Amino acid sequence: MRILAIETSCDETAVALLEINGALERPNIKILGNTLLSQVALHEKYGGVYPNLAKREHEKNLPPLLEKTLKEAGYDMSEAELRTNDIDYIAVTQGPGLEPALWTGITFAEMLGKKWDKPVVPVNHMEGHIFSVLYDMSETERLILPALALLVSGGHTELVIVKDFGNYKIIGRTRDDAVGEAFDKVARMLGLPYPGGPEISKLAEIAREKQSEQAAAFRFPRPMINSDNLDFSFSGLKTAVLYKLKLENLPAGRQDRSDEEFKEDVSRAFEDAAIGVLIEKTRRALLELGGEIKTLIVAGGVSANLHLSQELSKLASEFPNINLRLPTKYLTTDNAIMIGIAAFVRAGKGPKILKNQTPIRAQGNLSISSAP
Ligand code: KG4
Ligand code: ZN
Repeated sequence: MRILAIETSCDETAVALLEINGALERPNIKILGNTLLSQVALHEKYGGVYPNLAKREHEKNLPPLLEKTLKEAGYDMSEAELRTNDIDYIAVTQGPGLEPALWTGITFAEMLGKKWDKPVVPVNHMEGHIFSVLYDMSETERLILPALALLVSGGHTELVIVKDFGNYKIIGRTRDDAVGEAFDKVARMLGLPYPGGPEISKLAEIAREKQSEQAAAFRFPRPMINSDNLDFSFSGLKTAVLYKLKLENLPAGRQDRSDEEFKEDVSRAFEDAAIGVLIEKTRRALLELGGEIKTLIVAGGVSANLHLSQELSKLASEFPNINLRLPTKYLTTDNAIMIGIAAFVRAGKGPKILKNQTPIRAQGNLSISSAP
C-alpha cells in the first residue's frame, strides 16, 4: 500500500511517500521519498513555537516539499498526475498540536485528496509516535501487544496502554508541563538555544564524565515520585531550578565555579530528577499491570535522550519478559514517516477508509484514547 503522509502539528513541516506492506506487528516499510523542513531557527528568538508563524511557514513549505518528495520517489512531475494513481491514501495529522499549524496540513491534504480522488486519513500525532517503533525491525522482530507506551515529547508526557492496534487507554499524564517542555524551559533559563533537550543532555553528559563532586550539592526534587497514581508534574522541578539559579547568582555564590561547569551541573541534576521520575512511574505502571504487558514502547522527542535510554535498559532488565522498543534516532522527533505508519495501522484495523468523508477538523487537544 502506498501512503503519502503530511505532518504539520508543530514546527516541522514534513512530507513522506511510503510503501508499506505486511503484518501490522512487523510491516515492511519502504521510504520512497521523505522531506522535512524545521522552523527551529525561526522560533528560536521566541524561546518556543509561535503558532501563526508556524502556520505561515507550513503554507509556504508544503508545495515545494511535496514536489521534492515525489521527485525523490522517482515521480516525473510532468506525469505526476498519472503516477499518483498508485497512491492509496493521503495521511495527515489531525491533532494534537497547534491548531493553526494543523489546519494547514489538513487543508493541503484535502486539496490533494480532491485533486487526485484519494481518501484522506486523519492521524493522531501520538499514535504516530507510538508506531514510529515499527520502522526498521529485523526479520525476527515483532511488536507484541499489549504494550505500555511512555510518550515523552514537547507537548506530552503520557503512559498509555496499547491494548491492541487502535485500542488505547491513558493511565498517566502530566498535570502541568510536559517533560520536553521542562527541558526547553530549563535550557532557556541557562541561556541555551531552543530546543533545549539536546543541549541539556550534552551538558549533563559532560558533568557525568567529569564526575564533578559539586554536582552532588545539586539535587532537585522529583515531583510526585511517591504519589499514589501514575501522573507526572514537572513545573515544580522547573521552579526549583529557577530558585537555584537565583541563589547561585548572589555575589558570594559561585566564586569557585566557571559558568560552564555550573550549567553542566545544573543540567545533570535537572536531567537526573526528570528522568528519575519517568523511570519510577514507568516501573510502577509495569508492576501494577502485572504480566499483562509484553512490550515497553518509549517514543517522542525526549526518547532521543541518552540518559533516558540508559536508564530504560536498566529498568527493562528488571522485567525479563518485557521487550523494550525505542524508535530509530531520526524518528524520535516529529516526522511524516510515523504519520504514514500510523495510517497503515489505521487502514489495517479501523473502520474502512472512504473517499469524500466529512471534512477533517483540526483538534489541538485530540486524545489518543479517542483514536478510531
Ligand atoms: O516529539 P517532538 O519532536 O515534538 C512534539 O511532538 O512535541 O518532541 C520535541 C521535544 C522538545 O521539547 C525537545 O527539547 C525534546 O523533544 N528533545 C529532547 C532531546 N531531543 C529532543 N529532550 C531531551 N533530550 C534529548 N536528547
Ligand atoms: Zn511529536
